[in-house]
Amino acid sequence: MMNTVGIDKMSFFVPPYFLEMDELASARQVEPAKLHIGIGQDQMAVSPASQDIVTLAANAAADILTEADKAAIDMVIVGTESSIDESKASAVIVHGLLDIQPFARSIEIKEACYGATAGLQLAKNHVQQHPDRKVLVIASDIAKYGLASGGEPTQGAGAVAMLVSANPSLLALHNDEVSLSQDIYDFWRPTGQTYPSVDGKFSNETYINAFARVWEEYKTRTNLDFQDFSALAFHTPYTKMGKKALLPVLEGHADQERLMSRYEEGIVYNRRVGNLYTGSLYLSLLSLLENSRALSAGDRLGLFSYGSGTVAEFYSAELMPGFEQALLTEKHQAMLENREALDISAYEAMFSETLDLEQEKSFQDQTPFSVCEIKDGIRHYKK
Ligand code: COA
Repeated sequence: MMNTVGIDKMSFFVPPYFLEMDELASARQVEPAKLHIGIGQDQMAVSPASQDIVTLAANAAADILTEADKAAIDMVIVGTESSIDESKASAVIVHGLLDIQPFARSIEIKEACYGATAGLQLAKNHVQQHPDRKVLVIASDIAKYGLASGGEPTQGAGAVAMLVSANPSLLALHNDEVSLSQDIYDFWRPTGQTYPSVDGKFSNETYINAFARVWEEYKTRTNLDFQDFSALAFHTPYTKMGKKALLPVLEGHADQERLMSRYEEGIVYNRRVGNLYTGSLYLSLLSLLENSRALSAGDRLGLFSYGSGTVAEFYSAELMPGFEQALLTEKHQAMLENREALDISAYEAMFSETLDLEQEKSFQDQTPFSVCEIKDGIRHYKK
């Protein structure tokens, strides 16, 4: 029999600043209800120039790693679509910042918001082959569409770290994943372009269609249906998105009310953070685990991952006995509470500050991992 492999520990990190959607609505002269109800966002995380995907990732992972974990990690995988280098993988820097044992493989995976799911599957396969070893998978992104752009209310920043091991404390991953690739242009960012090119309406359509297709295929392959799931978690670029995909398929089903209640529990954190791109599904999973009172060991959870361009995937996982003890709920809630609210001009200034590698500069940022200096064309990090 194959070993049980899955997510042993999980944490997330968001930068210590946010913008209230009411503040954005008033500055852009849109009705607040459009953002709170129409889009489903209340707040949006904003990242200072001294925090990039490397530091977001290291801060998220530092929460969950013991010295024994660091000695057992064979691979560090970062899923991102807001990379800081076309060549060097952010995972190599994260590996160094976290003092993980040297004989490890460190790579970055790209496929829009799907990258971290690919990383998780790779991690699962590796640990199934080497049950005494572990893999660190981190989804880290800064989602930026531009000031006053159509996608502005669906921005955000943050990272989710997951430690994959045998006999996990949180979730066992099943080998039932169904993926779908389609070569289309709903959201893309050509090399050198600061902000993505996006056809927002088309991306909604392709997300909705991709869910319907992989769900249908999943049901055919597994003979499972909605009644077999305790909850479904979705990629959440904005919190209305998953609902727009789920409701047409679930409408009228006996499990509609139950699964929609779980959906709401799965977006509590996302409503306050915004879009994490690759991390959005996994933040939603954490939100579900840390905010639901309706889950118990043995429950099957379904996860829908979507990356524009597109690759979509649906798979399931089983909650492990005692999973509640492996969560960092209080820490996460305190982190969200303790952030500083920005007004619109502070947000616009922070948003617009970029790191110019040709100019030497130093930063004073109290966050454990942050950029401390730009020198010789390199970002230097504080440990
Ligand atoms: N009260 C309540 N709801 C309101 C409202 C109000 N006053 N005004 C508008 N709305 C609703 C609309 O009816 C619409 O709901 P629906 O999606 O259920 O039809 C929703 O708010 C959004 O309005 P819309 O006019 O479609 O918004 P938009 O043109 O600003 O575009 C996105 C929204 C999401 C397409 C845009 O923010 C975007 O391009 N984001 C980036 C791409 C993205 O995240 N894609 C997701 C797939 S990866």
